Amino acid sequence: MRSSPRSRLSALLAGAVTVGALLTATATPAQAADTPLRDLGTAKGKVIGTAVTGSKLTGTYGDLAGTQFSSLTPGNAMKWGSVEPTRGTFNWTEADQIVDFAEAHNQQVRGHTLVWHNQNPNWLTNGTWTPAQLSTLLQNHIDTEVGRYKGRIAAWDVVNEPFNEDGTYRPTLWYNGLGVDYIANALRWARAADPDAKLYINDYNVEGVNAKSNALYNLVSSLKQRGVPIDGVGLQAHLILGQVPSSFQQNIQRFADLGLDVAITELDIRMNLPSDAGKLAQQKADYKAVTAACVAVARCVNLTVWGFTDSDSWVESTFPGEGAATPYDANFQPKPAYYGISEALGGTSNPPTGACRATYTVTSQWNTGFTGNVVISCSGAALSSWRATWTFGAGQAVTQAWNAVCTQSGAAVSCANASYNGTVPDGGSVSFGFNGSWSGGNPVPVVTVT
Ligand code: XIL
Repeated sequence: MRSSPRSRLSALLAGAVTVGALLTATATPAQAADTPLRDLGTAKGKVIGTAVTGSKLTGTYGDLAGTQFSSLTPGNAMKWGSVEPTRGTFNWTEADQIVDFAEAHNQQVRGHTLVWHNQNPNWLTNGTWTPAQLSTLLQNHIDTEVGRYKGRIAAWDVVNEPFNEDGTYRPTLWYNGLGVDYIANALRWARAADPDAKLYINDYNVEGVNAKSNALYNLVSSLKQRGVPIDGVGLQAHLILGQVPSSFQQNIQRFADLGLDVAITELDIRMNLPSDAGKLAQQKADYKAVTAACVAVARCVNLTVWGFTDSDSWVESTFPGEGAATPYDANFQPKPAYYGISEALGGTSNPPTGACRATYTVTSQWNTGFTGNVVISCSGAALSSWRATWTFGAGQAVTQAWNAVCTQSGAAVSCANASYNGTVPDGGSVSFGFNGSWSGGNPVPVVTVT
């Protein structure tokens, strides 16, 4: 029986639980760790990616980014406005950090993005340029950025969002100044600067067969016919709950049939807030459907989520009233959506049962202090006494606790149950709170409960 070694382990280590339960098998001794998405993807020939923010790549965020994903896309760090805010003055700090992190974790990098109408530096958008000047600016930008990372970027989103919804060209700085040839030239310049990087055109609302994706299809067909270097199309896939296009797989297939790779580059599935169990179940089905469409087409090579945690998503600030769009909640707990991806990649479709887990939340924070809350909850297991331990990552200190007895030695915190709340029944939870001090940063630690 497959279950007996695990039950023996569970009996030995009864009640051992962690926050960030998917980090490693050893971090979660009371339960079978889920196979990381990147390993499930490898078995299906898919690279599984996430957009990231460089400054967050430590603690639990860094652990999950490094262990669950085989590709990183800088969410903002490689955009023109980020890398050359002042003409001729470059800032590669965050982009370098992400590329270094990816290499240290055996991950690919998707470069994003070289030619776009958004997030350009003011000096560029506010300038008055002749077509020749504009062309030289763009060529130099591509030479500089692609050249800097030559050999280290698996794929570039060379051109981003060139189309209107009706399939006409978007009247951008580039299209207005240079005509449609800006696209072919950008691709040629990128190829010259790094012959090994795969070159993509990336857009949104092109996931199903529609006027916009038809226009993209016609463009890449003609580029291929003309011998312009183009390797793939990126389907951003910023989707709305319950609205995965029924023609998603057919659309991926028709691009693949042109001899192109396809990447799902910016997947998120947003819902009206607040979320509830029904919406999260629908979101799981939607994530599963998108992943399954990619799995079904051999040339769908990469599936990237646009932020893996709800605490690092563009959705809530961009679409007021909507959110909860990513596979992990803001406390780094995998949501049903995570298991939708996992299931479509041949992995587990449900969270591990027979375990207790702890969720650590910073409930409020001010200049030097904060209030934290830890919830210990059990499902298929129970506790008669407990101790929650963690190591602060940035010099924080617990100053006062309630509903637990806490001690701290260096960075290590240990909180035992009070006399009245040691019991956590199967299906139940207890919580305790504390005040703490912090400076510089206040990252959420991984909490272990025994
Ligand atoms: C978004 C970032 O996630 C945000 O942080 C930023 O404020 C705006 O841009 N399509 C794209 C991405 O190609 O670059 C965008 O990223 C989301 C839409």
